[in-house]
Amino acid sequence: MLLSSVAIAIHAIAAMVWVGGMFFAYTVLRPSLGAFEPQHRLMLWRDVFSRFFVWVWIAVIALPLSGYVLVFFYFDGFGSAGMHIHIMHLLGLVMIGLFLLLYFGPYPGFRDGVAAKDWPRAAKHLNSIRRIVGINTIIGLVTVVVGASGRLWS
Ligand code: HEM
Repeated sequence: MLLSSVAIAIHAIAAMVWVGGMFFAYTVLRPSLGAFEPQHRLMLWRDVFSRFFVWVWIAVIALPLSGYVLVFFYFDGFGSAGMHIHIMHLLGLVMIGLFLLLYFGPYPGFRDGVAAKDWPRAAKHLNSIRRIVGINTIIGLVTVVVGASGRLWS
């Protein structure tokens, strides 16, 4: 009981930090930077990502770990878990896959572009990062709805 309570607390906080952070970056921070010079915008994103991705890494490890603790210690395995757990599991793995794609795909090119003051290169990679974060924000919001409401319908 204590283990499951700790696991659900970690799970909910990790989901909030990851999805909330992406939501803020995409819908609040990005449209607020229009007045800045492109290179200042790119340098700001470099600093934002280097801080935010530390938290995303923690969430990417904590979410499945705490989720599996709940599945195996609270629900007695995937066999007796509701459909919402299976949907959440799948969506969670897709979200993690997309983050890894972003982190090892366009992110190093973006960082190198900013370090070399190659602004067009950095901007091209930032565009790919933005697209992946946009998709992951939508999947993340759906996953939160499924996770939080699932026990009422599955
Ligand atoms: C990666 C594999 C994942 C597994 C195995 C998993 C498993 C679980 C389980 C077993 C529960 C408890 C459900 C219940 O009590 O009916 C839960 C709740 C929840 N999960 Fe997941 N989950 C995963 C990923 C995610 C992700 C990626 C998110 C969001 C981005 C998420 C968000 C939530 C939320 C919001 C809840 C409800 C928490 C609450 O009751 O306050 N989960 N998850």
